[in-house]
Amino acid sequence: MKKELLYSGKAKDIFSTDDEDLIVSVYKDQATMLNGARKEIIKGKGSLANQISSLIFEKLNRAGVATHFVKHLSEKEQLNRKVTVIPLEVVLRNVAAGSFAKRFGIEEGQKLEQPIIEFYYKNDDLDDPLINEDHIGVLHLATAEEITYIKAETQRINLLLQDWFSQIGLCLVDFKLEFGKDKNGQIILVDEFSPDNCRLWDSQGNHLDKDVFRRDLGSLTDAYSLVLKKLEEIH
Ligand code: TMP
Repeated sequence: MKKELLYSGKAKDIFSTDDEDLIVSVYKDQATMLNGARKEIIKGKGSLANQISSLIFEKLNRAGVATHFVKHLSEKEQLNRKVTVIPLEVVLRNVAAGSFAKRFGIEEGQKLEQPIIEFYYKNDDLDDPLINEDHIGVLHLATAEEITYIKAETQRINLLLQDWFSQIGLCLVDFKLEFGKDKNGQIILVDEFSPDNCRLWDSQGNHLDKDVFRRDLGSLTDAYSLVLKKLEEIH
């Protein structure tokens, strides 16, 4: 099914297929941070992230969210719709953590009065800078109407995800989404949703996400396996 390598990212390789509207995403056994400055091979991570993301995207599709997810193919592979990716990282925060806590001098763990959405410009050469809606318009990354839609979808996805994670006793602290445009110009959710691009804390405050790698807190695959096991229980 896979034909040629279209793109090799930090966490996934993307291949073309016989169908020009479909691509295969292959998840890597690799964890990176600081825009790839720290890199480590972690056996089993690709398979776990693929399984978690497939399960979440399947649930989102069922809940009526338009996504690129078609099906889980194998341990590390999934079939996705091909899109033109909008070069924005859309971060939603429910609780202060990470760069937000640092930037504003707020203690990690403080619940925010309302969910906050931030945009980052997806550009490795510039280290993905924080960007506002005026910048996005002037740089022609998306129209004002598209941003309104993306924000509303992100809020809706947050409500669904918060519900699912609370059912398994986990707090969804924050997460990053990406969107793309399909051949009809429809904006759909792309990329992945796994502990690689969100923060999940259990009731004791244990981190079950990529912060385990970023902060050297133990075994990343143990944390991801636990999240997968809990999600499978409610699926
Ligand atoms: P931050 O606190 O480091 O800005 O991260 C906010 C959320 O976005 C967190 O859940 C991790 C996720 N994220 C990514 O998925 N990719 C990135 O490149 C960054 C910086 C954050």
